Amino acid sequence: MAQIAAEYIRSKAGKETPALAIVLGSGLGDLASQVQEAVSIPFENLEGFPVSGVSGHSGALICGYLGGARVILLSGRAHYYEHGDAAAMKTPLQTLAALGCSTIALSNAAGSTREHMPPGTLMAIEDHLSWSGPNPLIGMQGDKRFVDLTDAYDPELRVLMQNVATRKGITLESGVYAWFSGPTFETPAEIRAVRQLGADAVGMSTVPETILARYFDMRVTAVSAITNYAAGMSDVALSHAQTKAQADRIKDRFVDLITGFAAEFAG
Ligand code: HPA
Repeated sequence: MAQIAAEYIRSKAGKETPALAIVLGSGLGDLASQVQEAVSIPFENLEGFPVSGVSGHSGALICGYLGGARVILLSGRAHYYEHGDAAAMKTPLQTLAALGCSTIALSNAAGSTREHMPPGTLMAIEDHLSWSGPNPLIGMQGDKRFVDLTDAYDPELRVLMQNVATRKGITLESGVYAWFSGPTFETPAEIRAVRQLGADAVGMSTVPETILARYFDMRVTAVSAITNYAAGMSDVALSHAQTKAQADRIKDRFVDLITGFAAEFAG
């Protein structure tokens, strides 16, 4: 399926190898409008790609240039909570690998477990806790499935991202992301527990994609847009509407950061 999708994408968008793939999180779709010479392919036209029913996720693959670099954006993703399939993003990620993408930048909206990271914070993910979801590689065959997740979030890419942020005057925190299955938000007790265990942010995506991307030999970097304090930490009621509204406030800085990061990959 991935080979067929890759051929189709090449036939529509040209054969140039993308220097960087980017997955856009909830409410962060605006980056797509910054892509130059954009060719947009709806996920419906790509077999094995998820048609997401989650608002804030548009469901298209966009090829073009960002910061002068050849990029592929996935605007929209599948979440584990949609169908109970941790490997829902397998074909999209395998397709990116088949197209020759060797680096991927993942993004998400997330809750913060730390007082010093209020809503509006951007956080580079340095490691993760796969807290409640199964592993997307379950059922895969062969020795390749035993992926080393030490430095799953590439330290060099994180330094590069941090340097771009500093240059642009954007504050970029760094921390551990804990993956909860969703679709409920967490309980305050769960948040207290994972904070003790080292989680700085919580969310419902990204971890399966990181594992799949590492399986397909891509270097991974990831950024969380903190849209709220996690459950029990503030009086603000948690809702998807609130996530999208807060993501909207962060998106300009996010676009600036990722565009600057992409520019580092310009040929
Ligand atoms: N929990 C899980 N996912 C999220 C949150 C949260 O608090 N905020 C945005 N996505």
